[in-house]
Amino acid sequence: MIQNSSQSKFPQFPYSYWLNSTDIPSFPKLSQDTQVDVVIVGAGITGITTAYLLTKKGLKVAVVDAGQILNGTTGHTTAKITAQHDLIYSEFLSHFGKEKTRLYYEANHEALQFIKQIVDEHNIDCQFSEEDAYVYTCSDTYVEKIASEYKAYEELGISGSYVEKTPLPFSTKAAIIMKKQAQFNPVPFLKYLAGEVLRQGGEIYEQTTVVGVEKGNPAIIKTREGIKITCSHVVSSSHFPFNDPSGLYFARLHAERSYVLAVKTDKSYPGGMYLSAENPKRSLRSVIVNGKPMVIVGGESHKTGQGICTFQYYEALEKFAAETFGLREVAYRWSAQDLSTLDKLPYIGQELSGNSNILVATGYRKWGMSTSIVAALLNANLITGEGSRYQELFSPSRFHADPDIKTFVIQNVDVAKHLIAGKLEMTHKEIDQLQYDEGAVVRVNGKRTGAYRDTQGTMHLVDTTCTHMGCEVDWNEAERTWDCPCHGSRYSYEGKVIEGPAKKSLGKVESV
Ligand code: FES
Repeated sequence: MIQNSSQSKFPQFPYSYWLNSTDIPSFPKLSQDTQVDVVIVGAGITGITTAYLLTKKGLKVAVVDAGQILNGTTGHTTAKITAQHDLIYSEFLSHFGKEKTRLYYEANHEALQFIKQIVDEHNIDCQFSEEDAYVYTCSDTYVEKIASEYKAYEELGISGSYVEKTPLPFSTKAAIIMKKQAQFNPVPFLKYLAGEVLRQGGEIYEQTTVVGVEKGNPAIIKTREGIKITCSHVVSSSHFPFNDPSGLYFARLHAERSYVLAVKTDKSYPGGMYLSAENPKRSLRSVIVNGKPMVIVGGESHKTGQGICTFQYYEALEKFAAETFGLREVAYRWSAQDLSTLDKLPYIGQELSGNSNILVATGYRKWGMSTSIVAALLNANLITGEGSRYQELFSPSRFHADPDIKTFVIQNVDVAKHLIAGKLEMTHKEIDQLQYDEGAVVRVNGKRTGAYRDTQGTMHLVDTTCTHMGCEVDWNEAERTWDCPCHGSRYSYEGKVIEGPAKKSLGKVESV
């Protein structure tokens, strides 16, 4: 377990409990040309589950990941498996009507049942437990919203109830409950599925970056080292679809970061999974860490690259945990990146270019534990030709004038604003003012430069111009990364890509 540093009340470096609690096998880098039926790009919950489904059906599958498996959002979630995606059903009813909204619920309900069935059948030790899910409010202005969400549940036939009080140790004004949802630790679950993929003849490769695809049938995937994989289908399950320029995904998705603490508390946790309706969001669930009960507290989301000093988000969660349950220890802290689409439905299915053998899965809006399974089931059925009743609902080529146009304009005005603001921004630090383990934007030879002095005192300098479309990245001090405010690309302090849509590293700047 990570110890608290002497300077802060919480762990100095972010580390996810999920990734720390299970030994995850490592996989080789792809080193020679190969041929398979399906290539899956991205080895998170979507990619591994899609591979599991397809190898079970006898297809030859290769999963490739630019880093390590499960190390993206999958390993940094709060791991609630639920169809209660905040207050959404009333909103979806007004935009899409009853039939489509009910389908959305059913797809996510089936996803929950899918995980439960696999855990039960194979006795997977992953802390799976059935819990009721609550969206609560402590604010008078949200009571009406909770009431109309409950009306939507009734109209859609969702099993739930409306209450004023919850089991939480503070008073609430209203809450809506969705019964029999679940929570788990996704890593042992996916380790099991990855093992099954290998047993069925599938292949998994790490440290293998895909840089392009020659479209057609067969399609040819190319890696950074020039290695080729020939296949009949490709699935992009690594957040930004890696090669669909006609999909304009960078303009139709926006990236948010949110924060998580695992804390030991004075008061015992009352059971259930909770989310506040109002901002700042507060998400709660229980977890067992080394045999001891702890509470997972999440929330504080903001657009990637647009946050204030990122330690403040952890501090806000820490304060909330202390006031609510009494805080003994912050054992872990971590953060996640999530993408949202224009209409809040995920993009799952055939890409926009007209190539029916290239599929995408993205835009889960923080509800990736259920939506990833929806995506895996849907894309697997499209590949095997079985079809799916959810195909049209989640199709990346759908267009809803309401709310797509309004959201598109708001998002892209925001991008333009950050593109210009980054170029004009003043710097507030000199390079020689940087302490050990401190980063900032500085000027080097008059040019905006990213500087980080590491824990050993070595200075790392990067060109702060994002390699995606030229916005200026900013320093994320809690994670020690360079984050882009325009479309959410993230880079390590050395400038290597951690999250797309950028594909190339930040430029190096020679030290002064
Ligand atoms: Fe698009 Fe940086 S992510 S400009």
